[in-house]
Amino acid sequence: MLTTLLKANANSILKAATLIRDGEVVAIPTETVYGLGANALDTNAVKKIFAAKGRPGDNPLIVHIAHMDELSALIACSLTDAMLAVMDAFWPGPLTLIFKKSDRVPFEVTAGLETVAIRMPDHEVAKEIISLSGCPIAAPSANKSGRPSPTSAAHVYDDLNGEIPLIIDGGQCQVGLESTVLDMTGDLPRILRPGGVTLEMLEFVLGEVLLDDSILCALKEGEQARSPGMKYKHYAPIGELTLVSGEDSIAIKKICTLYDKAVSRGLTSVIIASDETISCFGDRMKVSLGSKSEPQSMAAQLFNTLRDMDDVGAQIIFAQVVDTKGIGLALMNRLGKAAGFKTINAGE
Ligand code: TXA
Ligand code: MG
Repeated sequence: MLTTLLKANANSILKAATLIRDGEVVAIPTETVYGLGANALDTNAVKKIFAAKGRPGDNPLIVHIAHMDELSALIACSLTDAMLAVMDAFWPGPLTLIFKKSDRVPFEVTAGLETVAIRMPDHEVAKEIISLSGCPIAAPSANKSGRPSPTSAAHVYDDLNGEIPLIIDGGQCQVGLESTVLDMTGDLPRILRPGGVTLEMLEFVLGEVLLDDSILCALKEGEQARSPGMKYKHYAPIGELTLVSGEDSIAIKKICTLYDKAVSRGLTSVIIASDETISCFGDRMKVSLGSKSEPQSMAAQLFNTLRDMDDVGAQIIFAQVVDTKGIGLALMNRLGKAAGFKTINAGE
């Protein structure tokens, strides 16, 4: 299949919406990452998403809407005060909510679950495509399964050229990490995946918010993932990523020692540093995620940086752990998953 890459404008947006209405799959920009969108109510179209991504059939998709009046047809519950408050505060935006699903939502979208994930993106191009297509759009991140999520149209092209008819280029994604997934079906709201809307922001609106166990450590053998996506290896560069914890100076020393050891074994090694630490690594191969004083921009750089690791042929990669407050929790979750949660404590 020929994949066309078009800059977002009135013509290309209409083309994308028409293709989606006709049962095709199109990559579209959102404020978090690029999505691979199809009509959520068309089971054949939804199956094409799984095929293009190589996504396991038991990992459910997020349904994207552009207006509040599209919500009621998709869910089978009345809206609680908590749901209304959180939607009022963060929609449109990088927050996905899990509700009990209505009969209209096919099990192909929810991977057999009785619940559905719904998000209203805060991106003009995405909203226009949803509105013009006239249907809710099911869209996972537009990467090949297992690869880092795409934050530019070029990333999508690298992964899906030949698999889909159209990619709409809306520039760089602002948030750069996927949405926060918040389960609203239990007694208390529970974060299944941290993202652009932080724990602190949710607590401010909702009071107590639970954090799923799988966010900062690997699932134990045989343990069931509440969010099916959390059980898969994700975001992983081809090389082996190791995280190093401990006070800055000790962690930096440890990374230098491990790096030198890897290089002496003939392996290509790269250090993911910050603006504050990068000069401490001398002439070793290194890249900065950005300044620790701007964790938002470090988060927005992460997936790009992980993709760069593959481009330079990195075999052994090191990164320091980051503070988990605010967006740092999402950053640590993605770094942890990319590393298979392999962490060395430099202080020990
Ligand atoms: O920012 C985002 O969320 C992007 C953009 C395109 O909107 N989408 C995205 O989709 O990241 P995806 O498919 O890569 O991740 C969706 C996550 C997965 O971890 C999946 O398991 C979880 O949401 N999920 C979807 N439906 C669910 C459900 N009913 N219950 C629990 N988790 C669900
Ligand atoms: Mg994904």
